[in-house]
Amino acid sequence: MAKRCGLTLTAFLVLGLFFSCCFSETNHPQTNKKSAHLDSFGSSAVFPLHGNVYPLGYYSVSLSIGNPGKRFDLDIDTGSDLTWVQCDAPCTGCTKPREHLYKPKNNLVQCEDPLCAAFHSPASFPCNNPSDQCDYEVEYADQGSSLGVLVKDYFPLKFTNGSQLGPRLAFGCGYDQKHSGLSMPSTTGVLGLGTGKASIVSQLSRLGLTRNVVGHCLSSQGGFLFFGNDLVPSSGVMWTPMSRNVNHYSSGPAELVFNGKPTGVKALNFVFDSGSSYTYFNSKAYEALVKLVRNDLKGKPLKDATEDKSLPICWKGSKPFKSVHDAQNYFKPLALSFTNVKNVQLHISPEAYLIVSQYGNVCLGILNGSEVGLESTNIIGGIPTKISSLSNFFSSFL
Ligand SMILES: *[C@@H]1O[C@H](CO)[C@@H](O)[C@H](O)[C@H]1NC(C)=O
Ligand SMILES: *[C@@H]1O[C@H](CO)[C@@H](O)[C@H](O)[C@H]1NC(C)=O
Repeated sequence: MAKRCGLTLTAFLVLGLFFSCCFSETNHPQTNKKSAHLDSFGSSAVFPLHGNVYPLGYYSVSLSIGNPGKRFDLDIDTGSDLTWVQCDAPCTGCTKPREHLYKPKNNLVQCEDPLCAAFHSPASFPCNNPSDQCDYEVEYADQGSSLGVLVKDYFPLKFTNGSQLGPRLAFGCGYDQKHSGLSMPSTTGVLGLGTGKASIVSQLSRLGLTRNVVGHCLSSQGGFLFFGNDLVPSSGVMWTPMSRNVNHYSSGPAELVFNGKPTGVKALNFVFDSGSSYTYFNSKAYEALVKLVRNDLKGKPLKDATEDKSLPICWKGSKPFKSVHDAQNYFKPLALSFTNVKNVQLHISPEAYLIVSQYGNVCLGILNGSEVGLESTNIIGGIPTKISSLSNFFSSFL
């Protein structure tokens, strides 16, 4: 597994909201010091995102595929590598009408193509005959599975330098979908932004078009996604190494910080996963967090709203809250302090960990991971977060 480097901060003013980019990654953070991150290599591509954590529970991007291009809404997921779209091959379990599905046309990836190997672990490599089609199957923790075949097609992209190109990239044509959630996904597929070689951003990087960097900016009103490092400012940004041996974006153990003070809840391993709607802390950290938040609310005009079942913990104000902005002043900021990298903290502002329910109560948007079987891993889901440092870490690292 290539060494990953990431965790960036960059602030953008969009829709009147100030919010931040969560992370990015690149393959060789320490080689050739300065040029590793800052010198442009290729350009970047930027896409607006639609969605929110609550009530929708996903962020999606509209991507054009093919020539002429046809648009597909895809869930963005930093927790998986494979990009796939519902495909008329024909299809079992597709949720969209036929005319909205992807139609393959003699563009199957063959088994002998190195991209086929990139999509599979060696053990499950399905190749008996080099000219066979390259099948894939992907299962999600919370949303069923997709089975299909790899195809290659044009991705018309507009780059930040003004060029318009249509590189041919490999992705999954999914003709057998299973859904396990209560509601049908409203997207037509998944944009896999994981750490593996199969992801679209790794493919763009191998073609020399963008650096192997992915960043996203999420707010309660959408956001945006970028590939490449053109938009990463050269100051005010921290990079931290990403773990080598896990296939998730992860920065090693962290301590929970509440209102600027270390809590003693340490050794928390976090994975950055935009495909997870919520943020999950393990039982110990969750318990500590709930206690700290509750203690801090003593004497403030917020009451438990146990009748609100939108989320496990909600509070009622003297009048219904219209947005998180009305409620955030009652709450303190959180941070994660990474143990392996001095002075780098991931800031989670109240705005990022609170959600206002349909009843106008303010709810804790961080959930008890132990209830969904997460004991040793904590997940930073699709929340707006901000990473900052106490020293000029960025320049010293580069
Ligand atoms: C713009 O960026 C693209 C993608 O990296 C690259 O292929 C192209 O050569 C660049 N164009 C110019 C004029 O630099
Ligand atoms: C978190 O979930 C676990 C497993 O269901 C449970 O035992 C524990 O009490 C929960 N913690 C809190 C603070 O709710």
